[in-house]
Amino acid sequence: MPVDTPQVRLRPVGEQDLQMIRRFVLEPGLVGLDWTGFRDPGVVRRRFDADGFLGEDDGRLIVATGADGEAAGMVSYLARRRGNPRSYGWEIGIVLLPEWRGRGIGWRAQAMLCSYLFEHTPVQRIEAATHAENIAEQRSLERAGFEREGVLRAAEFRAGRWRDGCLYSRLRTDPDPLGAADQD
Ligand SMILES: CC(C)(COP(=O)(O)OP(=O)(O)OC[C@H]1O[C@@H](n2cnc3c(N)ncnc32)[C@H](O)[C@@H]1OP(=O)(O)O)[C@@H](O)C(=O)NCCC(=O)NCCS
Repeated sequence: MPVDTPQVRLRPVGEQDLQMIRRFVLEPGLVGLDWTGFRDPGVVRRRFDADGFLGEDDGRLIVATGADGEAAGMVSYLARRRGNPRSYGWEIGIVLLPEWRGRGIGWRAQAMLCSYLFEHTPVQRIEAATHAENIAEQRSLERAGFEREGVLRAAEFRAGRWRDGCLYSRLRTDPDPLGAADQD
């Protein structure tokens, strides 16, 4: 592994991570365009107490980095059903604290989440959507092995207006970029 490759691993949310998650709920702009306004911060504690953010249909994992496993942000997964209610795929998401962005952590964390979900669930498809303005996430998804499928027109009301979304997917059969990454 090259010396400048960031150490990244995914782990369950712990008590010590709740304050960071509350910051994403309460600080305008910390999640970029994905901030939807102030929300009840008590939801963070309630969800942690209920299932540790490890639900069957949705969950979150902490993106830990460095030798001491400092929390750099979190990833999420949500079951997506289309047509047949008995089959599903996942929609994933990510947010990193600003000081950890642009260091190669985001694409690795999303590729690791795909590996984790493909290993432990039988899904064939993982998708992710981002705003047309979010070039960092579009590049990060492509580096994580996702393919761009198209534009969702005026899909979401965020930051004062309706915005286009870009839809990406990675299939179980697509190449895993993590295998090649350490050869960089
Ligand atoms: C989007 C996000 C997860 C990307 O993770 P990251 O660790 O910053 O990105 P990486 O360092 O892994 O970079 C991946 C690719 O994106 C590019 N990139 C990173 N930041 C960029 C930026 N601000 N502008 C343009 N390209 C950027 C990198 O150069 C790299 O491209 P390359 O493979 O061609 O070299 C992170 O920036 C973030 O948390 N942003 C705020 C929240 C957010 O937007 N989440 C996604 C919501 S859909």
